Amino acid sequence: MLGVMSQWLTLSRAAHLLGISRVALQKRIRDGELPSFDGMVTVDDVQRAWPQLDLDESGSFEKTRAIREDAFARRLRERVLPTQEALAQRLFAQGQELAELQRTLTRYHTLLEALRARLDAAPPPVAADLAQLLDEGLARALSAPAPGEDVVALDAMLRVMSAHVTVKPSGREFFVEGSETLLKAALRAGLSPNYGCGNGVCGLCKARVVAGETRSVAPSDYRFSEAEKAQDHVLMCACTALSSDLVLEVLEAGAPEDIPEQRIVAKLRRIDTLSADVMRLHLQTPRSNRLRFLAGQRVTLGIRAGVGDGSDVHGEFSVASCPCDDRNLIFHVSRHDRRAASADFSACLFDGRIRIADDVSVWGPWGSFVLENTSPRPLVFIAVEDGFAPINSLIEHAIAVDAAESITLYWASAQPGGQYLPNQCRAWAEALDEFSYRALGVDELPAVLAANTALAQSDVYLAGAAPSIDAIATALLAAGMPPARLHVEAW
Ligand code: FES
Repeated sequence: MLGVMSQWLTLSRAAHLLGISRVALQKRIRDGELPSFDGMVTVDDVQRAWPQLDLDESGSFEKTRAIREDAFARRLRERVLPTQEALAQRLFAQGQELAELQRTLTRYHTLLEALRARLDAAPPPVAADLAQLLDEGLARALSAPAPGEDVVALDAMLRVMSAHVTVKPSGREFFVEGSETLLKAALRAGLSPNYGCGNGVCGLCKARVVAGETRSVAPSDYRFSEAEKAQDHVLMCACTALSSDLVLEVLEAGAPEDIPEQRIVAKLRRIDTLSADVMRLHLQTPRSNRLRFLAGQRVTLGIRAGVGDGSDVHGEFSVASCPCDDRNLIFHVSRHDRRAASADFSACLFDGRIRIADDVSVWGPWGSFVLENTSPRPLVFIAVEDGFAPINSLIEHAIAVDAAESITLYWASAQPGGQYLPNQCRAWAEALDEFSYRALGVDELPAVLAANTALAQSDVYLAGAAPSIDAIATALLAAGMPPARLHVEAW
């Protein structure tokens, strides 16, 4: 029944709609405070579980209001609104649903009128009682707004504005905003689909459309075989969602070994001094040759710095940014990098021999310090000094995936105030209910960790220079931390 069906929401859609994190919904379900059936919740139950929920304050409501207010702004039209064709298609689908709903209501109405006529003709007193019950019930149903009506209306609006995509076989979900490509939307949501050029040439981002329709939004030179055409294959980097619900069969990377080794020449766009000992590099890859990597991985950077015999200078660094932005790569380079392989590169940077607009070769990715995407356990990140670089990437990815029950970040430094991006960490803690951040001295860290009794139930990610990191890892294991839940990146 469509009237009843429209009250059910998937967890992702409920979270998207109400501005609640999926983790918060899952926790209420686990605690028995929010009924769910087959991965779905009802609008009424969500409103009962969050009686204080104010739709005016939900992100989705804000977004729709912004869309309404600025509907004709060119930038918004391009970036937030779907194409006219997608809008027409989704409105048509909603029109069909409404027509079906209307037909169903008409049938009920006819049935009710027939029932009322029978009751009028039937002998009292039972018939009179039933007639009164029916009249009162109908009066109640028609006078008061149904609980969750606002949410249902907002859901209908959002189904037009953003498409919901389910990925097979993983079952993961993401939303496509405006006319963005399926690939961009999937990366933004923390998925790791197979892809290469990002430019419609290599064909590696092929996906099979299982249900729904897509539309091409970028040029593509790749030629599908007849078999692929017959099986409804599309390029994720060149298509967006046309229908409001789409099901795609996608090849996803599940582990670092699924990501191919790549060599790219990127441009150094910006250098920021984060502290006396740490600089931030912002590299940008060519549009048609982006770096595919998993959050937390490292790459080798190389430059022609004219050092000694003029040969290349290399260094191995963790990517500090999220794979969701595969063109803009961020690195934190420390003056005191202990890795022999990275010291020359670091010295060149601090000596001013690496300059904006230089070509930098990027080779990789390397390493297996990556997030277990499917784990719902709390996440604890421990960074020591510039170990924050891979942790930053992992946290951005974890926030995008929205699967963990909570996120805790400890950032330790030997120098008071040595946490070189404190505002960013505080912003996470302020913006996310389930995020906590603590800056502390390296000496304080062992006692603080020993006092955290929840560590053994968490997935712990630990990164930084080897002496401190090895000591912390040893202490955690000795305290009973299961080795499989402890992930270490030490240099
Ligand atoms: S990533 Fe190469 S065609 Fe889409």
